[in-house]
Amino acid sequence: SSSTAKQGLRVLRFLWRFTWLSALGGAAYLSYHIYDSKHPPEQLPLDPTKKTLVILGSGWGSVSLLKKLDTDDYNVIVISPRNFFLFTPLLPSCTTGTIEHRSIMEPLRHIIRHKKRAVKYYEAEATKVDVDRRVVKINDFSDVKGTVSETEVPFDYLVVGVGAENATFGIPGVKENACFLKEIGDAQQIRKRVMDCIETATFKDQSEEEKDRLLHMVVVGGGPTGIEFAAELQDFFEEDLRKWVPDIADRFKVTLVEALPNVLPMFSKALIDYTEKTFKDENISVRTKTMVKKVTDKNIEVESTQADGSKVKESINYGLLVWATGNAVRGVVRDLMGQIPAQKNSRRGLAVNDYLVVDGTDGIWALGDCSATKYAPTAQVASQQGNFLARLFNSMAKTQAVEEELRVLDARLQATADEAEKAQLTAEINAKGRSLSKVKQLSPFQYSHQGSLAYIGADRAVADLNWFGGAVSSATGGELTYLFWRSAYVSMVFSLRNRILVLTDWLKTKAFGRDVSRE
Ligand code: FAD
Ligand code: NAI
Repeated sequence: SSSTAKQGLRVLRFLWRFTWLSALGGAAYLSYHIYDSKHPPEQLPLDPTKKTLVILGSGWGSVSLLKKLDTDDYNVIVISPRNFFLFTPLLPSCTTGTIEHRSIMEPLRHIIRHKKRAVKYYEAEATKVDVDRRVVKINDFSDVKGTVSETEVPFDYLVVGVGAENATFGIPGVKENACFLKEIGDAQQIRKRVMDCIETATFKDQSEEEKDRLLHMVVVGGGPTGIEFAAELQDFFEEDLRKWVPDIADRFKVTLVEALPNVLPMFSKALIDYTEKTFKDENISVRTKTMVKKVTDKNIEVESTQADGSKVKESINYGLLVWATGNAVRGVVRDLMGQIPAQKNSRRGLAVNDYLVVDGTDGIWALGDCSATKYAPTAQVASQQGNFLARLFNSMAKTQAVEEELRVLDARLQATADEAEKAQLTAEINAKGRSLSKVKQLSPFQYSHQGSLAYIGADRAVADLNWFGGAVSSATGGELTYLFWRSAYVSMVFSLRNRILVLTDWLKTKAFGRDVSRE
């Protein structure tokens, strides 16, 4: 028994050392990353002999490309009105303050300052891509302008990653009266408006009818944006608002309006049913087969299809209206498509080939939501396309370098009469030729779908996942899936800094609740 005790002691000692070593390793890893993020190394200057690669946008597609691109090989210029990357999957959480908006933003300046060669950034919108002259016209629409706020940027290669704008389908009143949920500013506006509606509803002598209107939060669109936002809003009400503003407890109401017969069309039937049931339990009213036709400042006019196929028109009052009905093509992209005959039949965005080259162009690529492919417009697709383009540009640069070396070797071979040198040069040319065919062998873009995840409120999420390259798939919903949702997103946010901020926000919300101040 004394030998068993000794063995037990040895195991304990081992575990103790292992824990210490892991903690030390973890601390060293963290310290290194924090130091590295704060101390970017010296960068190579721009090199006029290199080709100019202009990247439009600072979203999922463009930033994934930038992250993996070897900037040693190009003079890179990034143009975007947004000088940060936004981790959109957690944007719905910013509308209620579950997560603070800066926690999911990564400054573009941090990203480009860590590249090997200097990268230029212009905070501007591309207003026109002139295909013939190979220039991009850019405009600084920000509040502060210098004497120059409009100019042109020439390019050798161009990557268009400007995303999409909000679809309104020309429905009258949407642009003027609804809030959207695409950018940080949208989330801030919603957060402010929710509190404004609540404070106005509790204003002295407010009529009952007006209180009901102001406390009716309507979400249009049952895609993942609408679902996640409605879920976050109801959580806010149940966990915080109900407690701090008891006057509204019996009136605050969230309604989700969807034109199709069900919400979340990209999820499996079981998860759609689970989501609709969870929403019912959470007291979120779901109005499917209901299409919004007109919007005014206080109500929406809808047409719903009844079980017998008949249509019923109705007017619904609201205090807050959030419009989440998907994507539309941006003006600059529409203009670009108009210049290229091969884009004549494309409707959803820039038609591209298997290498993401814009059909009908030479040296122009498109990725993400502004391109029209067989894939859904998601961050998953855009980031995989960005990684693919980085591989493509890195391999193109290597190819060009090897081709240049081959030209020099060939010239020397032609010039020499020495047989020994001839043999050596021929061997070198053969070896380089073999390596050239290797770097040239880049297979076309192939999307690997990892699955779909969505938060549905009350600490539950739904997940349709693909494992082992799609060989195994699973559909799950509930609290465990929510833990998976959280860990997946926290591991995916851009940087260690974002990771720590998001985790701290979650902890803060758990400990103190969400902030109900209006600003
Ligand atoms: P974006 O990320 O939208 O980036 C476009 C960039 O172009 C921006 O930097 C913009 O400022 C810039 N830009 C705009 N106009 C111009 C111009 N004229 N000139 C230059 N630059 C311009 N997808 C998922 O896979 N999983 C999710 O969980 C998920 N959650 C989402 C949640 C929300 C609330 C939203 C709105 C979307 C979500 N998506 C999700 C979809 C995903 O965000 C998009 O598919 C993705 O952002 C597309 O990437 P992108 O690079 O094409 O465009
Ligand atoms: P969406 O296109 O997925 O859904 C929009 C919904 O609005 C559709 O179901 C449509 O039927 C409905 N609609 C359109 N017009 C309407 C009207 N007039 N009245 C009522 N309903 C109307 O749009 P969403 O949710 O903005 O997503 C855009 C893209 O971003 C999608 O590809 C989506 O997959 C992706 N995304 C993914 C997320 C995730 O994976 N968790 C989260 C958010 C977005």
